[in-house]
Amino acid sequence: MNTKIIQINRENFTDAELAEAAEILRNGGLVAIPTETVYGLGANALDESASKKIYEAKGRPSDNPLIAHISCMDELSALVSEIPEAGRKLAEKYWPGPLTMVFPKKEIVPYGTTGGLETVAIRMPSDPVANRLIKLAGVPVAAPSANTSGRPSPTKAEHVVEDMNGKIEMIIDSGEVGIGVESTIVDVSGKVPMLLRPGAITMEMLRETLGEVEIDPAILGPLSADVKPKAPGMKYRHYAPQAEMTLVEGEMEHVVEFINQEAKLALEAGLKVGIICTEESRESYQCGMLKVIGSRENEESVAHNLFAVLREFDDQKVDCIFSESFSKDRLGQAIMNRLCKAAGYHIVKV
Ligand code: TXA
Ligand code: MG
Repeated sequence: MNTKIIQINRENFTDAELAEAAEILRNGGLVAIPTETVYGLGANALDESASKKIYEAKGRPSDNPLIAHISCMDELSALVSEIPEAGRKLAEKYWPGPLTMVFPKKEIVPYGTTGGLETVAIRMPSDPVANRLIKLAGVPVAAPSANTSGRPSPTKAEHVVEDMNGKIEMIIDSGEVGIGVESTIVDVSGKVPMLLRPGAITMEMLRETLGEVEIDPAILGPLSADVKPKAPGMKYRHYAPQAEMTLVEGEMEHVVEFINQEAKLALEAGLKVGIICTEESRESYQCGMLKVIGSRENEESVAHNLFAVLREFDDQKVDCIFSESFSKDRLGQAIMNRLCKAAGYHIVKV
């Protein structure tokens, strides 16, 4: 398949520029779209055969449900059988934005989109291109991250091209995304709302709006084989660079010392070594290929660069990666969740 790539300036575009993309979505095709979190791979969420194409293009297991994206509140009630109080409150405060909520589904939403579940995950993106395209398509848009299953999520159109060129009808290139980690997912279908995936809408923000919020244990660490995470996607190896990655936790001074020592040994063994450091620590490393993930003074910069740094190490074909770690508060919870998974929970405490 020939994949058409179009450039759209998210600050200044017309409906006419999005007309072909909207047409493709309506007709059951696939379009990669920019959102404020990561690039998504969009298809008509109400068309089971369109959802099926998403799974094929990504190489994704079909029990892993998709998020249906809407453009405004009026589109919600067609898809969900109930809007619980918690969902209403969060929608009012954080939609459109980087928040996904799980609701009981209406019959119109096919099991092919929800991975066989009776619930459906819904998000209203704030990115103007994504939001307008959904409106013009006139259908809810199912969109997982637009990466090959298991690879780091795409934060630039180039990443989408790497993974999807030749497999989908169109890629909309609107440059880099803003946030860089996927949306926060909250299940509001039960008695007490539950955080299923941390993101830019933090646990602290959710608790401020809702009071009690539970947390899916899958977020905090590796699961034993008999425990099922509530968000099926959380069980898969994810965001993984090709190299073996080690996340190093502890006092900064000890972390730097440990990484320098391990990097030296690995280099002596003939391995290509990558190091994920910060603006604050970049001068402290003596060998290896350094990548600055952002500044400790600005967690947003770390989230923004995280997946791109992992992909750059893939491009450089490094054999092993050592990464500094971050506090698990606020946005740090989302950052550490992605880094822990990228490292396959290979964490060293020094
Ligand atoms: O920021 C984002 O959410 C991006 C952009 C494109 O919107 N999308 C995204 O989709 O990250 P994806 O498919 O990569 O991740 C969706 C996650 C998966 O872990 C999936 O298991 C979970 O949401 N999920 C979807 N529907 C669910 C449901 N009904 N119940 C529980 N978890 C669900
Ligand atoms: Mg994904």
